[in-house]
Parts: sequence; C-alpha cells; structure tokens
Amino acid sequence: MSIRNNLHTDHGLETYAQGMCNSAGDKARINHYLAPGTILELGCGNGAYLQTLPEDRLRQTTAVDMNANLLLKAQANLRERSALVTFKRAHLFRDDFLETFEDQEFDNVVLCSVLHELYSEARTQQLAEHRDENQAEHNAVRSITSLLDNIWDLIRVGGRLIIRDGCKPPSDNVTIRFKNAEVRQAFAKFVDDHPWFITYTELDYGVTLNLQDAYEFLTKYFYTENWDVEVLERFGWCNYNDIITMLGDKQLQTIEVTSYLIPWLGSKWAQDFDFTGKYPDSTMLVAIQKIG
Ligand SMILES: C[S@@+](CC[C@H](N)C(=O)[O-])C[C@H]1O[C@@H](n2cnc3c(N)ncnc32)[C@H](O)[C@@H]1O
Repeated sequence: MSIRNNLHTDHGLETYAQGMCNSAGDKARINHYLAPGTILELGCGNGAYLQTLPEDRLRQTTAVDMNANLLLKAQANLRERSALVTFKRAHLFRDDFLETFEDQEFDNVVLCSVLHELYSEARTQQLAEHRDENQAEHNAVRSITSLLDNIWDLIRVGGRLIIRDGCKPPSDNVTIRFKNAEVRQAFAKFVDDHPWFITYTELDYGVTLNLQDAYEFLTKYFYTENWDVEVLERFGWCNYNDIITMLGDKQLQTIEVTSYLIPWLGSKWAQDFDFTGKYPDSTMLVAIQKIG
C-alpha cells in the first residue's frame, strides 16, 4: 500500500487535506482546458479540485482515490453537491484498477497533484527492491509510463488528458542565501532527511547547489506536520516534455503545455531567501487531446 496510508496520523491527514485546498484557486485553471462531457478525476483527495467544478460538470464526474478517509472528506466538502458525483475507491497501481472502469471511456481524465505521488510511491518501492537509485528511478518512470498507457485507454477519441503537478527545472547551479536562521536550519534538516544525497557548496549564509535539488527544498521546507512523508516524495521528477515522451507514439494533439510559479510560493521564497537568477517554475499544466 501507499506510503500515504502508512504514515499519516489523523492530524497529519487533516493537514494534508488542508494543503490540497490551499491551492484550489490554481487548480481551477484546469477547467479552462476541459473538453465537453464526462470527467474522471484520479486521486481526487478531499475534493479540492472537484469543488471548483460547476454542478453540470459534477453531474458528469467520477472521482477516484485509494484513501477512504479522503473520499469521505470530499463528500463532506461538496456538501449537497456530493450526490452529483460518482465516487470510487481504487488504487491506481493495482491490477484491478482498470476493471473498475471496464468498457467505460471518459471525455476528460484529470490528474491534479497526483502524478508526483505515484512516481514517488513507485520509486520508494523500487528502491526497497533494488537499492540502486538509477535502476529504481528508471523502473519508476517505466511504471508511470505504463500507468499513463492504461489511463490513455480510458479516454475517448477527442477527449483529453489534463495533468497539473510539480515541474522538474533545468539542471543549472543556483545560489540560495538564507534570510533567517530558521530556513538555514530547515535546509540542514532537508539534506539530512532527504532520501538521496544532496551535494552543495557552503557559502556565507547560503549554499550553491543544483536547481533540481533546490526545487525539492523550496517546495518542501515549510512542511512541518507531514515532513517525514513529504521529504520522501519527489515533486519535480518530470517536466512537460517528459510527459509527452512517456506518451510515446500515441496519436495526440497538444492543447497546452505550460509551467509557472504559483504567486504565494514566490512571495514566500522572497521573504526567506535571496536567490540567484529566476525562480524555478513550481507547477506545470499539460492538456493533451487524444486524436486517434
Ligand atoms: C495531493 S492529493 C491531490 C488531491 C486532488 N487531486 C487535488 O488536487 O486537490 C493526491 C491524492 O492522490 C491519491 N493517491 C496517491 N496515490 C494513489 C494511488 N496509487 N491510487 C489512488 N489514489 C492515489 C492520494 O490519496 C491523494 O488523495
């Protein structure tokens, strides 16, 4: 089962669920790219994204999560509108996932803030089996590629796959200078607890390191409650070009591929750090139409 089910305390789950709602405004961007018709949201959590949908779209929506508690929270958060949605509990990596939707096709499949969890889960499992980081990463990417393959089969021709998630930055060197002792301490904790070795050069109240490692720190350092869970995840494991590559030779049309920095994150970083160069984009949004 997932690391999520094993490690969250009740309070941790509450904090995790609250975190989903904090970026609900940004999640609503997805709606701009929806094709008309049915929606399948995979990894719906507490319904933070679902809440952005109007009634006529909720009526056409099926929402899936492996976590029964979060499904309950989603129903509670949608209040009387929850009856419009079809909820299903399923684990996306289980063999019976596709059986849940036998002979069904959807006009939209939405993966909002879930792909990085799936990748991280696959990577953690692979590492436990292989102990070789490169092999584990390679196999985890293969798992996601084959999951995307299965998901693609759930999309009607003319329908769309819409992914919103973290975004892997380029492999450049950056310098971060800490504006206070707390964030300096948070960086030390990050490198000690991180599941792979982070190399950096110590400077006067700052560090130089690879932007991809810096991204993991910058998107996580403010987590306290669920630190042990979040630090094991890799938020920026792929970018939108990688998604297209994983889809291989499928007949598709790109409707949108973009990445951007969520404004509250940019403001938070500016309070806590001086940063050389441009901040990395925090988030990518990919909308792809199935054309054959
Ligand atoms: C960060 S939350 C995102 C929730 C929602 N999509 C949103 O944007 O507000 C990720 C969700 O994916 C679910 N999830 C993670 N791995 C899963 C898996 N293997 N099968 C089904 N759900 C999974 C988690 O339980 C969690 O609810």
